Amino acid sequence: MQQDRLWNEWHPVSKAVDLLDDPKQVFVLGERVVIFRNEKGVHAFKDLCIHRGAALSLGKVKNGNLVCAYHAWEYDCAGACVKIPALPNDRPIPTKARATVYHCQEQYGLIWVCLGDEPAPLISYPEYTLDGYHTAICGPYEVKANAPRIIENFLDVSHLMFVHQGMLGDKEHAHVADYDVKFLDNHYITSKIPVYQPNPDGRSKGGYANYVYEILNPTTARFTKTTDGSDEEFTILVAVNQEDNEKSKAFMLLTRNYDLDKPDDTFIEFQDLIFNQDLDIVESQKPELLPLDLQAELHLKSDALTIAYRRWLDELGVENGTIAISEEKRKRRVVK
Ligand code: FES
Ligand code: CO
Repeated sequence: MQQDRLWNEWHPVSKAVDLLDDPKQVFVLGERVVIFRNEKGVHAFKDLCIHRGAALSLGKVKNGNLVCAYHAWEYDCAGACVKIPALPNDRPIPTKARATVYHCQEQYGLIWVCLGDEPAPLISYPEYTLDGYHTAICGPYEVKANAPRIIENFLDVSHLMFVHQGMLGDKEHAHVADYDVKFLDNHYITSKIPVYQPNPDGRSKGGYANYVYEILNPTTARFTKTTDGSDEEFTILVAVNQEDNEKSKAFMLLTRNYDLDKPDDTFIEFQDLIFNQDLDIVESQKPELLPLDLQAELHLKSDALTIAYRRWLDELGVENGTIAISEEKRKRRVVK
């Protein structure tokens, strides 16, 4: 059950701008995957040539086909082998000569891959195309931790005053006001949570920021920060790709509706710094798999959001937050 849920989710594997002419190797839930781009769009295969098992990501894209580096078998973007140079012209290409095709799409400046047969809907992030809003993409941040630990850290309100002291919080204002967590339209959303922030987004404009957090699926979450008396909105969407049982990569979309003429660097560098502050903590957390038994750790009222997250993972059957994939699932072939 748990494997099905994550197997059918969309996982962010690359910034779109980082996938150009050459194929690229990525990992999703322990699976080695090659992504490539041709004039029809973006595509993902199991990164394995059926001939002698070479990584297709070592090859090239030629005339829209992915060409293996070893003996130059050519695969079209539906995964069919359309050319075997060693085969005399009068011999047909064996029908078994196919690549394993996964679902792949480009959206919100990222390349997303789904390994499963029944892809869940991709998350919706309307701010990305809203007039008057601009998005900068951060990451990928490499983390030696499981995706649920990274998502939980993103949703954790009461660490801001300590890990990000002087920026996203101040230890003299460590109290977290009560807030609600609701399940609406298939995801979790909080009421506004006021947090005193000396430097909320890198521009050093301190004050109270109101956070509204949302958990979109087991590996994607977001918040929007606003300030009373101002129209400025600042949203961060985090999407985490669990590469295998030890490593994840996190991508972040920073969206703002102000200072659109300013370079993105200020915001990106600030976020890099914030993420680095969290890194040691997240990588240090034991057990590695998020404990979904709520008796296993202590919780406060201010942890309502992370409790909701753990409960949701449990309900969805993402057992113990683990992402381990069964061999049976690994072998399954997905055809678009
Ligand atoms: Fe790919 Fe031989 S291993 S063509
Ligand atoms: Co943090």
